[in-house]
Amino acid sequence: MSVDAGFEAAQAAIVAGTYEGFAPEAVGLYQDVMSMARRCVEPVDFGYRAFDVGSRDERHRPVVVALGPSEVIGIEPNKRETARAVAFGVAEAGDVFSGSLQEWADTTPAPADSAFLFNVLRRLIEDRDFMRALRNSVAVGGIAVVSFMRSDADQDFIDSLPERFAGFRRIEVAPSEDVQSGRAIPRQRQIRNTSLSIWRRED
Ligand SMILES: C[S@@+](CC[C@H](N)C(=O)[O-])C[C@H]1O[C@@H](n2cnc3c(N)ncnc32)[C@H](O)[C@@H]1O
Repeated sequence: MSVDAGFEAAQAAIVAGTYEGFAPEAVGLYQDVMSMARRCVEPVDFGYRAFDVGSRDERHRPVVVALGPSEVIGIEPNKRETARAVAFGVAEAGDVFSGSLQEWADTTPAPADSAFLFNVLRRLIEDRDFMRALRNSVAVGGIAVVSFMRSDADQDFIDSLPERFAGFRRIEVAPSEDVQSGRAIPRQRQIRNTSLSIWRRED
């Protein structure tokens, strides 16, 4: 399925309210990623090919597509989740790799310009094989956009990220303005609030 066709199918499913996988917060997620990308101290380009790692039932495919890459590949080991997305016309089976990121990295040499890991499980970030696969799956100069489930993102874990993301450098993000008070929100609080971060793959 072309990216446009997938996006249209997803939009239609959202408008019709037929696909429960699409929660309203997906729109917020898009806004959060765009807002963070705009505040990055260096330009961020989502590139040509993007991976949605742990894409579940492709619920965030419209978000990733809307960010602009020409090719979006879901990577999801749970075949039932993929079957749901296919049943609702949100993706075709060929849009999703049915396996883990580690299996993808072992078998497929073409790296992505960007990888999105939304609500990624903490245990995966703590798994060296998974992180090695992530390094091998993102082209040098490419980016990884990561968010955690709030319950996972305690301070110790946040502090351990630079070490876990060896081979990546965290892109600095300027604080955003707190519109109501006019004061800047401290960067650390902002990142913990959204639990989003952006990483650049380095040599
Ligand atoms: C907490 S869910 C998040 C799903 C989705 N990104 C979201 O925001 O709702 C984690 C997903 O990662 C998938 N997963 C687990 N291990 C994985 C691995 N090694 N590689 C890729 N995906 C994995 C799970 O099957 C599940 O769909």
